[in-house]
Amino acid sequence: MISDKVKNILNEQINKEFYSAYLYLAMSAYFDDMGLYGFANWTKVQAREEVDHGMIIFDYIVDRDKTVELKQIDVPDTDFKSPLQVFEKILEHERYVTSLIDSIANLSMDECDLATRNFINWYLKEQVEEEKNASDIITKLKLFGEEKASLYLLNEELAKRKYHKHEYS
Ligand code: FEO
Repeated sequence: MISDKVKNILNEQINKEFYSAYLYLAMSAYFDDMGLYGFANWTKVQAREEVDHGMIIFDYIVDRDKTVELKQIDVPDTDFKSPLQVFEKILEHERYVTSLIDSIANLSMDECDLATRNFINWYLKEQVEEEKNASDIITKLKLFGEEKASLYLLNEELAKRKYHKHEYS
């Protein structure tokens, strides 16, 4: 049985994951407008993975016989200035999400809820990957600059990302 405190923080996290999807979709639209279709693809695939993250928590709350509470999704900030600035925003956002996941892990320990503590392990690992992905792209953008030729090559690389349903394991 999960406590109301744990249920509430998990419901909050569903909202944050769906907000993340909105944020990545806004970024995808920005890249699409710029003609950077590979960047647009990468962020759109990420948006779909964020929906999966939200749905996995949704299913967990249902499985634990608690009530899912869907909250209003904030409008994402769309003040995008360049590919590098967008990826810096992504890294900042993912670090924030990591802090939220850490809070769920800590609360589940405080509440002696080992099932939720175990459940959230997958998200802790996922966040390491999410931060690394953004950080790697920032490194490339800084190393090779945002000149047209290097942006073209990175755009081609990011175009290859394919969506695979994110399964909880
Ligand atoms: Fe679901 Fe990007 O964290």
